Amino acid sequence: RLHGVVAMDGPSGTGKSTVSRRLAAACGAAYLDTGAMYRALTLAVLRSGLEGTESDTEKVAVAAVADLESVTDPSAPAIRLSGEDVESEIRGAAVTSAVSAVSAIPAVRAALVERQRVLIDEAITGCGGIVVEGRDIGSVVVPDAPLKVYLTASEDVRAARREAQDRKAGRAADHAAVLADVRRRDELDSTRKTSPLHAAPDALVLDTDGLSVDDVLTELLRLVTDRG
Ligand code: C5P
Repeated sequence: RLHGVVAMDGPSGTGKSTVSRRLAAACGAAYLDTGAMYRALTLAVLRSGLEGTESDTEKVAVAAVADLESVTDPSAPAIRLSGEDVESEIRGAAVTSAVSAVSAIPAVRAALVERQRVLIDEAITGCGGIVVEGRDIGSVVVPDAPLKVYLTASEDVRAARREAQDRKAGRAADHAAVLADVRRRDELDSTRKTSPLHAAPDALVLDTDGLSVDDVLTELLRLVTDRG
């Protein structure tokens, strides 16, 4: 069993979501996908048609935080916006290409981080532990997490994983386009002023090139046990 928080950070396409969810299930812990929260706010902005200016985007996104609902059960994680299940829509191309701009807005991050900390506290009270994945979990959201992992992989491997994921979900996937999107999003996420993507100094960096999901999971379970 897992006690406390495991912070899982890293860029897109490292297999973070799959291993975080499986780790949580294996440890009887809760699971929170913070990327899904930024994606759902982005969907609210796109639906409002007000994404033209940063101040309108900020207003709509911050207001939509109150309409978000995250289910942290790793066997059936869910994200809802005003009660509507938006899981599949938030993975589409429109949200994926707009999300980095929305998540770079400081007021949006402040509002979501506050919400994330409440969800994390609830999970700790409820089942003792939670695996939280994102970009700034170890550096900003839970800086005192007892275990911080930063997953990496080469760009090509990450693009190939994204592509496979898109195919599996029935979305069109083209290697060059996915690679370009992975590069663009990493660049935006790592160079923004507020909470840029970087490994916390005390995070364990795990390069997943050449590792299967099972390999990564085995390593994570070993880390949890060692630190337990
Ligand atoms: O993990 P995922 O690819 O779903 O995240 C989507 C986007 O949300 C990222 O590209 C990043 O811009 C943003 N994000 C963030 N901080 C987090 C999680 C996600 O800025 N903790």
